[in-house]
This record gives sequence, structure tokens and C-alpha cells, in this order.
Amino acid sequence: MENYRENKIVEVLQMLKYIGFDSIDSSLLKFSPFEDLIGEVNTCRKCDLHKNRTNAVFGKGPAGADIMIVGEAPGRDEDIQGIPFVGRAGKKLYDMFSASGIEEKDVFITNVIKCRPPGNRNPEPVEMERCRPYLLKQIEIIQPKVIVLLGNIALSLATGTPSGITKMRGKSLEYLSYKAIPTFHPAYVLRNPGSEKIVVEDFKKVKRSIS
Ligand code: URA
Repeated sequence: MENYRENKIVEVLQMLKYIGFDSIDSSLLKFSPFEDLIGEVNTCRKCDLHKNRTNAVFGKGPAGADIMIVGEAPGRDEDIQGIPFVGRAGKKLYDMFSASGIEEKDVFITNVIKCRPPGNRNPEPVEMERCRPYLLKQIEIIQPKVIVLLGNIALSLATGTPSGITKMRGKSLEYLSYKAIPTFHPAYVLRNPGSEKIVVEDFKKVKRSIS
């Protein structure tokens, strides 16, 4: 990684010199705190999911986000684009952000596992286990005010069991000493449109907890 960085810096400096810069401010040379971790996730081979991925899906949003959203796993569209929640469930998620006053600038979105399981099946325990260090490192970097757990798989991070979302949603839990609020997954909302207003209410609670 260090060599990669150095080569990139040299390339960029040569280009700047070429277009007429004599010097640049050193504050411009700050790397994203995610830089190394993104490299690790993109080259990860800790479980079999790497064999069929087009892209690992690290996450999207600022490292200083107040809200961290944790979904389940990338789907087909996410695998192709390398970005979380870009399919139909993603559109629904962003609509529910708007309806609850949550702004994108305050949100970092990721998943429990970073590679797509075949046929969008649920992640297996071994996959979640091997991928967990990446999520933990993301949380450590971001230090969000609140973590939103979307659906049963994400809820299981806090409870240890992949069930109970109907009973637990909207409640304030603790996950690694962070405040965590579970709610329904947007894919569930697509299948059960009546649940949308419940998720919007849960998101309003999330919004209040960062204000
Ligand atoms: N569903 C998820 O849980 N995550 C995504 O990124 C997309 C769909």
C-alpha cells in the first residue's frame, strides 16, 4: 500500500508540475482514513464469496458521519457498481431518509458483509465472522452517534440471533457501547408497503438522536 501511495503521489505531482504548479500546500496531501481499509476489503479472500464477486462493496459516505446505516449484504446491482444500496431497496432507503429529515451528508452506509452472497441468500455465520473485522474498523474510524441496524441480519450483530426485528425495531439498543436502533430492512418495506411509515418514524428517532 505504501508503494502504491508513493507512486500515485509522484504521478500526481508530475502532472501538477506539467500543468504549471511550482508548489502545493501539504494539507492537500491528506489521505482518507478509509484508504488502507478499502484496499484490504477490495482484495479480501477470507471467505468463498470473493470467488464470484464483481466488486466488494466497502460502503458510502463521510468518515465523520453521525449516523451509520448497516444493511445485510450487497445485491446484484451493488456487486456490479461496488456501491451499497443502489438498487430498488436503495431507492426506498433514500426516500425514507428524505421523509424523516435525514440528510445524506450525515450518513455512512455499509453492510454486515461486503461481498454478494450467491442468489442473494442470507449471509452464513462464517462469512459474517470473517467480515466482522472490517465493520468493526469502520465503526472505530467513524465513531457514529447512532448505528441503524436494517433487518434481522444486522440486528443479530447486537443480539446474537438473526430474528426478532418486529419486536425490537424502534428500540434503543447498545452495540459495542454505541447506541443502535434496529428497524425493518427497505427490501421488507418494498414487500410490505404498510411498514414504510413505521420505518420513517424509526428514522425520525434516529434523526433526533443526532440533533
Ligand atoms: N440490501 C442490502 O442489505 N444492502 C445493500 O447494499 C443492498 C441491498
